[in-house]
Amino acid sequence: MVFKGYEGVIKRYREFLPEIDEKYIITINEGNTPLIKARNLGRIINPDIEIYFKYEGLNPTGSFKDRGMTMAVSKAVSDGSKAVICASTGNTSASASAYAARAGIKSFVLIPEGKIATGKLSQALVHGALVMQIQGNFDDALVITREIAKDYDVTLVNSVNPFRLEGQKTASFEIADELGSAPDYHILPVGNAGNITAYWKGYKEYFAAGKIKKLPKMIGFQAEGAAPIVLNHIVKEPHTVATAIRIGNPASWQKAVEAKEESGGLIEAVSDEDILKAYALLAANEGVFCEPASAITLAGLIKLNGRGFFEKGSVCVLTLTGHGLKDPGNAIKVSKEPVIVPCDKNSVLKAMGIKKTKSGGFI
Ligand code: F0G
Repeated sequence: MVFKGYEGVIKRYREFLPEIDEKYIITINEGNTPLIKARNLGRIINPDIEIYFKYEGLNPTGSFKDRGMTMAVSKAVSDGSKAVICASTGNTSASASAYAARAGIKSFVLIPEGKIATGKLSQALVHGALVMQIQGNFDDALVITREIAKDYDVTLVNSVNPFRLEGQKTASFEIADELGSAPDYHILPVGNAGNITAYWKGYKEYFAAGKIKKLPKMIGFQAEGAAPIVLNHIVKEPHTVATAIRIGNPASWQKAVEAKEESGGLIEAVSDEDILKAYALLAANEGVFCEPASAITLAGLIKLNGRGFFEKGSVCVLTLTGHGLKDPGNAIKVSKEPVIVPCDKNSVLKAMGIKKTKSGGFI
């Protein structure tokens, strides 16, 4: 039987990616995620701009990392590697362990103890990774993994592996293909700074190939307590509710600065309070559930909009990097508590606030 379905980013964007022999491709059909136009938030925030969400939470392991992991793990397998290793704030470990499981190779992951969202931890465990909780932060864990990968026979699959960025750039191709153009502004969370680097690379390559006629301005946001690029110095003890981007010394720091400068964009910080407000606002008004680190894009857009940053008619794309189900604890914290109701119809009606019967209207 010849399968004619979608089979991931490597096959779809082969001409823009380093060659991987087809027999080594490890894919879980990542990519092809929806670009969702805001229906209600435009009205609330600014009716004169167009807002789109690139919902990367709908990748197979629930984050954008899968686009890069298909490339990195396929390359590792084609090179004969039998194991991968990564440091992670959660999503990279979930993705690396899933792709390693699919490839039939081992995965080792280092995560900061107690600082990763439950959903992500459960993923790495269920996919069979050896999960090591380090008594340090992500930056410390990355130093150790880099050293081990240098000296031992395990492949590093953090975004310092150039194949990761190659895969991740395919998101900008998808956006350009759907919009028929680059957006005016592309807004991303910045943690280890690989993704903003990858998107910018992707847009530039599409531009050079004549697929788009202009380039977007790249706008990055860091959490105030973990904003080394904004502060222009390493943050030794980064802290933020958005644990995915709790990073004080990003590996692609310089490349992120280049993306900002070459595109005429900016990298700024927003507070945890604003991140959580945007997180709740998005879920409640668009039906789109992302994790706090992803919601920083909306918090950032609201911040910039407040100072009249966007010209009328601007098209803004916000990458929602991870699914909200990764981190249910924060969702419950920002929401109203469930009500406890006795198990009978009248009590349920009372709790619903319904007074009239069907023809009499609702509530
Ligand atoms: N959003 C989410 C949900 C993430 O998991 C990450 C990074 C980022 C944004 C930032 O992307 O690092 O390319 O600037 N997570 C990494 C991890 C560090 O280990 O899962 P970046």
